[in-house]
Amino acid sequence: MHFYDLPRAEGPVLGIETSCDETAAAVLDGAGKVLAEVVLSQLAEHAPHGGVVPEIAARAHLHHLPELVKRVMGEAGLRYGDLAGVAATSGPGLIGGLIVGSSFAKGIALAQKKPFVAVNHLEAHALSPRLPGLFPEDVPFPYLLMLLSGGHCQCVAVLGVGNYRRLGSTLDDAVGEAFDKVAKLLGLPWPGGPYLERLAALGDPSAFPLPRPLLGRPGCDFSFSGLKTAVAQLVASKPPGPLAQSFAADLAASFQQAVTEVLADRAAHAMEAFRAYSPDTSHLVMAGGVAANQTIRAAVAEQAKAQGFEFFAPPSSLCTDNAVMVAWAGIERLRLGLCDGLDFSPRPRWPLETLSHSGKSLPAR
Ligand code: KG4
Ligand code: ZN
Repeated sequence: MHFYDLPRAEGPVLGIETSCDETAAAVLDGAGKVLAEVVLSQLAEHAPHGGVVPEIAARAHLHHLPELVKRVMGEAGLRYGDLAGVAATSGPGLIGGLIVGSSFAKGIALAQKKPFVAVNHLEAHALSPRLPGLFPEDVPFPYLLMLLSGGHCQCVAVLGVGNYRRLGSTLDDAVGEAFDKVAKLLGLPWPGGPYLERLAALGDPSAFPLPRPLLGRPGCDFSFSGLKTAVAQLVASKPPGPLAQSFAADLAASFQQAVTEVLADRAAHAMEAFRAYSPDTSHLVMAGGVAANQTIRAAVAEQAKAQGFEFFAPPSSLCTDNAVMVAWAGIERLRLGLCDGLDFSPRPRWPLETLSHSGKSLPAR
């Protein structure tokens, strides 16, 4: 498909995110400056069900996305013809939402004869710390990424755009998923991570000797289901009905403490493993919704310092799902002359390490 009419990534890029329960759109200029962005959470739609319902999510994306895109384009003061490209999360994620977002982006790309970039959601998280102006210095390749979210939990060596090595990942639940499940056991609203953090602040982190799964073991895999079961057993030992506030707070604090110690330990092992890829660089980035947790952030930052790594955690709004990171991943790819055909099928499963050779080259100009 040879129909591109703007210089490579010299102009603004529209990004669209619809892989889970956030409908988001953003416009960045060619240098990566955010011109407009909006994130619409579907919390209210899913909360009564205690989790994301894929069909409800897909319908909500379809309902809200056109208006959202119109809004960011208006706020950016741009017409579609001004865009240098359109980037949409095309996997991994819930297939209904992926189809909505990527089809919408393809429609604009086709009508305006602009390149379409099928963005891997994990790559968008992985590249987010490179957004210009985020940190006093730019974060250069290679770096170590701990991606800690509701759907993903992995340590990755980020060697370059499309070039990733997974060093470890969860054997069962993602860390955010564990937070959400434990929060539910404690009677907190969904999604429970932020509520659990607030409750934990009122409790004693050493009240319950909960397990620390995989702590001290070689490698940097994670496991959280045993920890969650231990919490469930303690809750089950109480009479039915609402838990006493002090018991719930102590349990929340003890759970958060166990997770924090495990994550700091896994970070330590990941940093060791990362040295094999890059003996001379030492940057650790933490991203994903759980990176918003202050106790976890502080513990991993301290561990990084102890091992001589510089620690970066993007602001919470860029850690949780958003379209700025999608547009930025699009810009990084377009700068390398990479884009995708309009026949690209969204991928519910799309591991980072299979990305290396995805995308095709923009035609020579
Ligand atoms: O990255 P994200 O917005 O979406 C996914 O891709 O999953 O992460 C959402 C997850 C949820 O599980 C949520 O409970 C968790 O991040 N989370 C937190 C905190 N804020 C969000 N977990 C612990 N502490 C927090 N402060
Ligand atoms: Zn995410």
